[in-house]
Amino acid sequence: PPAKFIKINEVNKYRDQRVNVKGWVHHMRFQGKDLMLIVLRDGTANLQSILTDRLCHTYDALTLTLESTVSLFGTIKTVIEGKSAPGDHELIVDYWEVISKAPGDSEAVANKASVDSDPSIQYAQRHLLIRGDTESAVLKVRSYSLRAFRVHFHSIGYLEITPPSLEQKIIEGGSSIFSLPYYDAGACLSQSSQLYLESCVPALGNVYTINESFRAEKLITRRHLTEYTHLEVEAGFITFEDLLDMIENAVCGTIDFLLKDPVSRRLIEQLNPGFVTPTRPFMRMRYEDAIKWLNEHEVKRGDGNDFMYGDDIPESPERLMTDTINRPIFLTHFPGPIKSFYMPRSKDDPRVTDSVDLLVPNVGEIVGGSMRISNYEDMLSVFKTAKLNPDDLYWYLDLSKYGAFPHGGFGLGVERFLAWITNRYSVLDCCLYPRFPGNCKP
Ligand code: 4AD
Ligand code: MG
Repeated sequence: PPAKFIKINEVNKYRDQRVNVKGWVHHMRFQGKDLMLIVLRDGTANLQSILTDRLCHTYDALTLTLESTVSLFGTIKTVIEGKSAPGDHELIVDYWEVISKAPGDSEAVANKASVDSDPSIQYAQRHLLIRGDTESAVLKVRSYSLRAFRVHFHSIGYLEITPPSLEQKIIEGGSSIFSLPYYDAGACLSQSSQLYLESCVPALGNVYTINESFRAEKLITRRHLTEYTHLEVEAGFITFEDLLDMIENAVCGTIDFLLKDPVSRRLIEQLNPGFVTPTRPFMRMRYEDAIKWLNEHEVKRGDGNDFMYGDDIPESPERLMTDTINRPIFLTHFPGPIKSFYMPRSKDDPRVTDSVDLLVPNVGEIVGGSMRISNYEDMLSVFKTAKLNPDDLYWYLDLSKYGAFPHGGFGLGVERFLAWITNRYSVLDCCLYPRFPGNCKP
């Protein structure tokens, strides 16, 4: 008899009805020779399915392998209390077919990859590993997070922009650029969409983008990718205080949204039990006080000396401080020389800039942001100091000429945000196919 083809996440609408589900054999087990259990996975959810008697005596049943594709027909039953099945429903199968048989070594592939310490070997099998419970849960939270960012910025009236990734000039850190041939000139892959976003504000109002950024990092670390997804935001006529609020609202608004939705809430609970929206307002700490904190806690620089005012705070002391304090921290007012050319000096202390990083436990920096210089003369002068050619960035200079305006914004690394909320050790596990030094596969 005909049965409706449904997705597993809709089974609760089909209680006691006959349906058809299709998917992959996620787990399977014989109980005696007359009962076979298949946990079917179709991407939306898993469904425990029960095959009895002649249904599990066939050649197909006896030779079935994990990750084979099957089509099951049967009746959806609510699981009776005391019986254990993943989810609240199970399928009592009355007919089934194999669509495609897998080789049956998928567990071996997964085990082999998971014990290897070389990331390029580990991640070479990621196209199969993402079918696992944990890996797929992280990727689902990623999808929900992207939606949550968009819902948040839409709700406050910011427009989404899709700036190009191929560009002519560089902005953050000249040494980490991917260059490529581009007709008779060269081009490079975008490291940040910030300058393009700034140019949009006078035309479109406040804007944001979720775009790939590329950084030719030299080392494989737990928080650096060579290609990452970058949420960037730019707003006009704001103060530095407004910028901090904007970051806090974006981060907390997104997490609130994720924890309100029953599906993403369950996934986050599975990956990071007990995770809640952080308390607001976030703790604030000036760069200067972070240097003091490190010295008071006897955290040393790589060369064994004390940290000094003006030093860049590297990844591991930064994370140590954040893990010790164990809550999000706005680290503000970095000295001019260690920050980007476009960051303006603070009014109350010209040694420092109106800049901010958001640090979170387990990861460290997830957001970098600042106010932007808006005065034309000031911009020309920092161009000189940074040895930037005004002719190359003529269009960016025009911003402070044709109607300069106070503005600021920030960039959030999506994989780092995910490593935080899903409690992953490495950003490599927070994207589909991580790009890291030496690796571009699958
Ligand atoms: O601090 P960054 O370099 O700042 C900018 O690019 C600014 N233009 C952003 C802006 O104001 N619009 O990068 C911003 C964030 C970092 O805080 C970090 O979360 C992430 O991007 N990030 C990386 N994530 C993964 N792999 C890398 N190699 C990353 N580099 C930066
Ligand atoms: Mg930064």
